[in-house]
Amino acid sequence: MATPPKTRLDVGRANLRESLNRRLRAIRPRPSKVLVVMDRRAQQAVGRRIERAVAQAGLNWELVIAPQGEARKTMASAETLAARLVRRGADRSSFLLAVGGGVTSDMAGFVASMLFRGIRWGVVPTTLLSMADASIGGKTAVNLPEGKNLIGAFHFPEFVVTDVRTLTTLPEREWLCGMGEVVKSAMLSGPVLLNQLESIPRAKLRRSSNALVDVVRSCARYKSRIVAADPHEGDKRKLLNLGHTYGHALETSAGPNRLAHGEAVALGIRCALRDSLERGLCNEDYAERILKLMKRVGLPERYPSKLPSNGQLRRLLRRDKKASAGTLDLILPIRAGQNAVISGVEARDVVAVIRRELG
Ligand SMILES: NC(=O)c1ccc[n+]([C@@H]2O[C@H](COP(=O)([O-])OP(=O)(O)OC[C@H]3O[C@@H](n4cnc5c(N)ncnc54)[C@H](O)[C@@H]3O)[C@@H](O)[C@H]2O)c1
Ligand SMILES: [Zn+2]
Repeated sequence: MATPPKTRLDVGRANLRESLNRRLRAIRPRPSKVLVVMDRRAQQAVGRRIERAVAQAGLNWELVIAPQGEARKTMASAETLAARLVRRGADRSSFLLAVGGGVTSDMAGFVASMLFRGIRWGVVPTTLLSMADASIGGKTAVNLPEGKNLIGAFHFPEFVVTDVRTLTTLPEREWLCGMGEVVKSAMLSGPVLLNQLESIPRAKLRRSSNALVDVVRSCARYKSRIVAADPHEGDKRKLLNLGHTYGHALETSAGPNRLAHGEAVALGIRCALRDSLERGLCNEDYAERILKLMKRVGLPERYPSKLPSNGQLRRLLRRDKKASAGTLDLILPIRAGQNAVISGVEARDVVAVIRRELG
């Protein structure tokens, strides 16, 4: 596979117009048209600001509405979106601008990778999860009934323009989901980001503050570094699954309305910490530190209902697409910035940890 092109990354506060304008003007060769793709909720939240910024860049542009929500991140929606783009005059030299959360960037990026065998694209992430994680790294995908993100492509955006001020309209639940991934990034990236996150007063965290800009930038840069070192998902990129093996099983068993993705990741991190402690990989102080941080940012501490049976949990764990040859790969924390990839773990041992931690 080819080396990924460099994605330009801007992270700021109240920088949307200026950064987007500059990035759009710098696209070479100049696109025939910019197709701005967003879902209805993102349009309500940031549509006007985006339109002004794009219009200012002096390019021909059109707005195309994308299907909304995880349940509609499907091949059928990708086809609908592609057809809308073509009807709006997309051609091989068009540029797609995906604006919104990870659902929009995953699906619009997937369409950009396929339409006319690939057109250029950029992202304006407007959820915390997307700013810190989903918009970075060139992975695009849609879901199949058989599982999430099973059809996709690596297609790197030319730029990601992040303005934390767009988060002011984000619902609390979506905010928390992003926080789950932010805590994960802090555990992976090391003491600097972890200290940054711990030192933001609780009341300031949720606001569009400079402290939040620093945290989001650190998360995005951390992920960019991992991806650059390992663009096509070898061992380094596996680390990004911290909390996710347990988390996916919990998310699926509870259902998305009971346990959203980032909340499930937070419970997954709890399980990973317990597993690490029991194996003697991390110490109590580190585990306590992370648990305290997760509590402070408002992440859940308990599974929302009675845990499913061991058999059901085992089946869900084995369905994880990262399971190879029937066993699982686990990412276990050691200390800030140091995490181990443990291969060949039996699903029943993972279930036992989940039950001890959350049962
Ligand atoms: N490609 C990757 O590397 C990667 C990594 C992590 C997650 N993901 C994917 O990301 C998706 C989840 O992303 P998400 O949590 O951003 O979901 P999402 O895109 O569904 O956004 C959540 C909701 O918030 C709304 N919204 C977006 N911005 C808003 C704003 N500023 N104000 C108010 N509402 C706003 C959206 O319209 C949507 O209804 C999943 O499909 C997941 O698979 C991809
Ligand atoms: Zn995740």
